[in-house]
Amino acid sequence: MALRFEASCPEGICPGWSVTVKGETTSSTSMFEINFLCDPGDRIAFHLNPRFADSKIFCNSFLASHWGKEEVTDTFPLAAKEPFQIEIYSDQDYFHVFIDENKILQFKHRQKQLSSITKLQILNDITISAVEITKRALY
Ligand code: GAL
Repeated sequence: MALRFEASCPEGICPGWSVTVKGETTSSTSMFEINFLCDPGDRIAFHLNPRFADSKIFCNSFLASHWGKEEVTDTFPLAAKEPFQIEIYSDQDYFHVFIDENKILQFKHRQKQLSSITKLQILNDITISAVEITKRALY
């Protein structure tokens, strides 16, 4: 596991905060992950894992010490060596994921206590050029 970026916000980043990651990967077999973690412990409220070799995006949670049910999307608008932008925005019900401003998927909150989701982590095969964490109005 290679940690590329980590940020925490004690008051919680869901709902209402938007996270935008700009980056690039070098290889057609890249895998990286963007995780929203819960405090305390290493629980993952939302794991977003594009897998370039499969051209699929795997989403899951890791709560109570095990992975939950995978949600897999085969819309895959990412390519090696091409810069992309991923935005993850949460409201009360879902994480909404946009790639290059197109909505790709949504993931229903499994960690119901949203205020416990306090940390953002980005791992593995990604070269990050920017991370923006912005408070947005709920709509
Ligand atoms: C596993 C993988 C984890 C995570 C999970 C998602 O196979 O080892 O890193 O991506 O799938 O369901």
